[in-house]
Amino acid sequence: MTHDNKREGFSSSFGVLVATLGSAVGLGNIWKFPALTGANGGASFLAVYLLATLAVGLPVMIAEIALGRSARANAVSTFERLASGGGGFWQIIGWMSFASALLIMAFYSEVAGWVYAYVFKAASGALASTSPEVASRTFGALVTDPVQSLIWQWVVLAICGTIIAMGVTRGIEAVTRKLMPLLFILLIVLCIRSLTLPGAIDGLVFLFKPDFSLITPDVVLVALGLAFFKLSIGMGCMLTYGSYFRADQNIPSTALRVMLADLSVSLLAGIAIFPAVFAFGFEPAAGPSLVFMTIPAVFTSMPGGTLFMTLFFVLTAVASVGAILSLLEVPMAIFSERLGVSRRQTAVALVLSIALVGAPAALSNSSMAAFKPFGMTVFDLYDFVTSNLLLPLGGILICLFVAWNWGLPRLLAQISNDGALPNAIIARAVFRLVQWVAPVLIAIVLLHGLKVF
Ligand code: PHE
Repeated sequence: MTHDNKREGFSSSFGVLVATLGSAVGLGNIWKFPALTGANGGASFLAVYLLATLAVGLPVMIAEIALGRSARANAVSTFERLASGGGGFWQIIGWMSFASALLIMAFYSEVAGWVYAYVFKAASGALASTSPEVASRTFGALVTDPVQSLIWQWVVLAICGTIIAMGVTRGIEAVTRKLMPLLFILLIVLCIRSLTLPGAIDGLVFLFKPDFSLITPDVVLVALGLAFFKLSIGMGCMLTYGSYFRADQNIPSTALRVMLADLSVSLLAGIAIFPAVFAFGFEPAAGPSLVFMTIPAVFTSMPGGTLFMTLFFVLTAVASVGAILSLLEVPMAIFSERLGVSRRQTAVALVLSIALVGAPAALSNSSMAAFKPFGMTVFDLYDFVTSNLLLPLGGILICLFVAWNWGLPRLLAQISNDGALPNAIIARAVFRLVQWVAPVLIAIVLLHGLKVF
């Protein structure tokens, strides 16, 4: 293992876990997972998603972290350092990661902006209603207002840019560490309220009783893309975080714990939302607006609703910051390490670029609603291109690199901490999965979903 003592890293083993979890848990769990599960058939989608997470997500995550910790470098330089026979070609993974990070942040920061706006709406009592019409009008008024859309996005970017400029350990760890458990508890409270609503059972049936006839190639592609998105893989993010992992960290056990915790948060969000969807007469396939309409309804129907609702949106805002910080860290590490630019200057340049690329996404429900390249709004296009194309493609390339260039002995050394941990069997299993199973599965799903065959 190469160690570069000048590089900052996570300060404790627990800090590593929290920061990695902070990257994985975010709007992907609370906003995207319910929206996609609702729009793609419920339980059958969940089943495919679980399969994708286990067979593809977890091994790719372990491989990515191992690569990063081995090279102790950013997503581009890692391949330069590790590739035998010259890293020229493989560096493309790093540059694709940069593109993915930018495009994801361009729409993710907008959704985070809606969450910030909802903190204030919740506190003012403006969301206190269980009526689908009122909820839809409130959400519509926010997203179709170009000025509010842009300003909230900029607020999010300014906050995250400031934190990231402060540095890895202090910035990322400090923020994510304290508030995650609180979000978990609040979700459990929400679940209890939602499950005790009259008619709640229909929501549980929708979420857990699969109708496999609803599974189409499109649904599989979306589920796979969601698995990548939620675990922050296929785009150098886990690789970059892996480069800050401690030498004695147990990589597979950390990855497993992050995956399980991430899954629990998603399931809790699903259990909080779907019973309420059916109880109050919301539309499960409402898409991006689903969470913003149903969550306030659940809180409104319980004592202390305003307070808890405000707290919920504050914690979701914090969770989104943890994810954005990890997204920002990908280009931050690339540019500050390769060009020697300071973190502060890089942060300013990045935030400005995201504001520029993100503006059309922010305006895609208002001023730019009619602009639909490839038949999608810019917001949907960024989302589609990243989750359904760039991340799976990045995943395939990472698998191929590990299996056919880096090789089993190095993966083994990395995963077992040079023999200190009894992880040889796990390393071999991960190797087989990234050698054949994951790339073949991803390729089939990708080509099928894109209607290539
Ligand atoms: N995993 C994050 C979430 O679920 C989003 C994310 C994607 C973060 C890719 C980093 C990289 O919200």
